[in-house]
Amino acid sequence: MQINIGLIGFGTIGAGVVKILQKSAGLIEKKTGVRLCLKRIADLDITTSRGVVVEPEILTTKVEEIIGADDIDVVIELIGGYEPARTIVLSAMRAGKSIVTANKALLSRYWEEMFQTATECQVAFYAEASVGGGIPIISSITQGLVANEIQEIYGIINGTCNYILTKMSDEGLEFSEALKQAQANGYAEANPAFDIEGVDTAHKLSILSSISFGGHVQLESISTQGITRITKLDIDYAKELGFVIKLLGIAKRLSANEIEASVHPAMIPENHLLSSVNDVFNAIYMVGDFIGPMMFYGKGAGQLPTASAIVGDLVMLAHQGKGLRSTKEAAIKVRKADTISSKYYLRVTAEDSTGVLASIAGILGKHGISIASCIQKERGQFVPIIILTHEAEEGNLRAAIAEIDKLPEIKDETVCISLVAG
Ligand code: HSE
Repeated sequence: MQINIGLIGFGTIGAGVVKILQKSAGLIEKKTGVRLCLKRIADLDITTSRGVVVEPEILTTKVEEIIGADDIDVVIELIGGYEPARTIVLSAMRAGKSIVTANKALLSRYWEEMFQTATECQVAFYAEASVGGGIPIISSITQGLVANEIQEIYGIINGTCNYILTKMSDEGLEFSEALKQAQANGYAEANPAFDIEGVDTAHKLSILSSISFGGHVQLESISTQGITRITKLDIDYAKELGFVIKLLGIAKRLSANEIEASVHPAMIPENHLLSSVNDVFNAIYMVGDFIGPMMFYGKGAGQLPTASAIVGDLVMLAHQGKGLRSTKEAAIKVRKADTISSKYYLRVTAEDSTGVLASIAGILGKHGISIASCIQKERGQFVPIIILTHEAEEGNLRAAIAEIDKLPEIKDETVCISLVAG
């Protein structure tokens, strides 16, 4: 069987899809019986070299030449972001084209609209590459693991952040230098603020949770914090305390239709499976009621891993796959982050003078937060004070930090990182 493809968006990942088709279309046909035929590529810029040779006549600057083409069955959308991707994908579905996309922003924000339109237009919608790069996590959850009630998800699902944190930890790189390298490697979003501020992880967690828990988990309900305030100092203290800092997307089932879901930097015990996931690698650690714990590991960003997931979707589509479907009409309720409990690491930057520690401890005590240990090594005008707390509710902790940061002896905003149990 032959599938005729129109590719919209000829950037890093689009060029990766072309490279894979050029190298492996024959092998894929031999293994699956599916002939993948790239008919047209649309991009605003069709002159810059993408490191791959394509016949000039298949290039166009007009998406209509793909959306309106009778000889195209499926549109691969690789523009990224909300618009114009949303309008183009909706028009393509209305023109009877199935969709394969890597666009987590689009899917997480316009979940209902995408699936409603796909159902109305009787087309398939695939998005394996939207989460975990080359890791086939979406098809695993929606097919191989479907017998399970998913209870917990802990994901390192942003390659850029994981790359930055690894480089800061292993090579002592500054944050900005590590980010530059991640961009040069093609890992980062067009707007890297989406990566480092945790938004990309929230997009992906919204998708993972929605397919895992059986209802749409809205993006806005996920409490989100990125890695921009993490310094080398925090990474070094974490190491000394036996932890590794990672940006995690966490979701847990609390009841049939209530979950907790959040994105934040977390300190993971160094013997935890997730702590050895480094560089651009992603990992999704999940617990299902029948399967128990399991972990998926692989490259979560980059040209060829992501393109590999897209090509996989094309073959599933050819095999009459129905694609992703919206599970239930009702949204899943996400519990407010304020009431979630954890142990915390705090780095308070304070004037090195008598009584400051007593004031900080007093405020924590007033908010019902118990101190497990405290480290102050340096002497100077301002010093970092590291405090580990016992289990505390996030709301109480935030209120205490706001009060601490108002003390005249405090120099910078306090850094707060939750500890993941081993
Ligand atoms: N910017 C994303 C990341 C790309 O770094 O993980 C893959 O979704």
